Amino acid sequence: MSSPDALPSPPPPAARLIGLGSWLPPRQVTNAELCTRLDTSAEWIRTRIGITTRHIADPTTATSDMAVEAGLRAMKSAGVDHVDALVLATTTPDHPVPATAPTVAHRLGLRHVPAFDLAAGCSGFVYATSVAAALIQAGTARTVLVVGAETMSAIIDPADRSTAPIFGDGAGAAVLGAGRAGEPGTLGPVAWGSDGEHADAIYVPEGGSRRFPGLPPGDGAGRYVHMRGNVVLRQAVRHMSQVSRDAAAAAGWTVQDIDRLIVHQANARISAAVADALGLPPEAVPSNIARVGNTSAASVPLLLAHAAANGQLTAGQRVLVAAFGAGFTWAATTLVWPAGLHAVS
Ligand code: UT7
Repeated sequence: MSSPDALPSPPPPAARLIGLGSWLPPRQVTNAELCTRLDTSAEWIRTRIGITTRHIADPTTATSDMAVEAGLRAMKSAGVDHVDALVLATTTPDHPVPATAPTVAHRLGLRHVPAFDLAAGCSGFVYATSVAAALIQAGTARTVLVVGAETMSAIIDPADRSTAPIFGDGAGAAVLGAGRAGEPGTLGPVAWGSDGEHADAIYVPEGGSRRFPGLPPGDGAGRYVHMRGNVVLRQAVRHMSQVSRDAAAAAGWTVQDIDRLIVHQANARISAAVADALGLPPEAVPSNIARVGNTSAASVPLLLAHAAANGQLTAGQRVLVAAFGAGFTWAATTLVWPAGLHAVS
């Protein structure tokens, strides 16, 4: 039993966003270029998905290479040269074994820090951020580097018009540090979930332990993303709208309190439908899908970095971040945008 004179224990730390970085491979593939090899049109891609160009990694660039670049920039943005842990959100690790995060940590000079991959599809970065925040709240780490990096071009069939126009490559990263609850930049409670009933709505048949007797091994199709786009589109709108409401409520906000919605860049029509469902005007919903495409787990940190750099996220704004992806998985969280955060690209 504590004595009546005992000092109250200090409140647990909250996780605060202190750095943002991004990196895109230099090569851009325009809709016009895609039209030279696919039965599609630049107009269809622009109006049905909202994309005009995307960045595609050259064949010698893997996810770890992009993660290192984004991680370096996020640490520079935070003004730190060390972190206590690294979480890498990706669906395109360099190899099935080992995880990619230890390679990234090693190349960043983060000698021997705990580092692990987290696979939650396009929701991966919000999931990873929430896990990192929990490490900070528990006192396990004081700073965590969270990276979302994807080489989608490695798992997209270049001849498939239903997926090739959508996805792009890139990496974004954030540094979380220990702060005080209620301070600008601290992350609110996460709202998240999953529904494995739709595991086959976006999936890559080969490369894991499940074998498919119907697929000749190594015929090519098995290593690519198969997607039932229309199912994904409807579920994405439904779940991102609901999880956004849940995260706002968990933060003690109403939906009308949201100044900016940072929503996973899956399809401009999905973002518009979520904004509409929440009653948010277009100017409250920054977007970069037109020039980067859908970069899966890299999408949210890339948009955070780009929106911060171009002045669409400013100190004091109440920001809600929401994502949805393969699994299905979905997640959302909140923060009040902090002053003095300069994203590095
Ligand atoms: O990040 C999470 C993972 N992914 C997503 O969130 C993606 C979510 N889904 C989508 O963005 C959309 O469903 C797509 C962009 C994939 C497709 O748009 P849609 O409006 O749902 O089209 P649809 O699949 O219902 O297809 C409509 C038509 C079909 O032709 P028919 O059967 O009506 O004759 C497709 O064959 O559009 C055709 N189509 C295309 N036509 C020209 C599909 N892809 C293309 C294309 N160019 N690239």
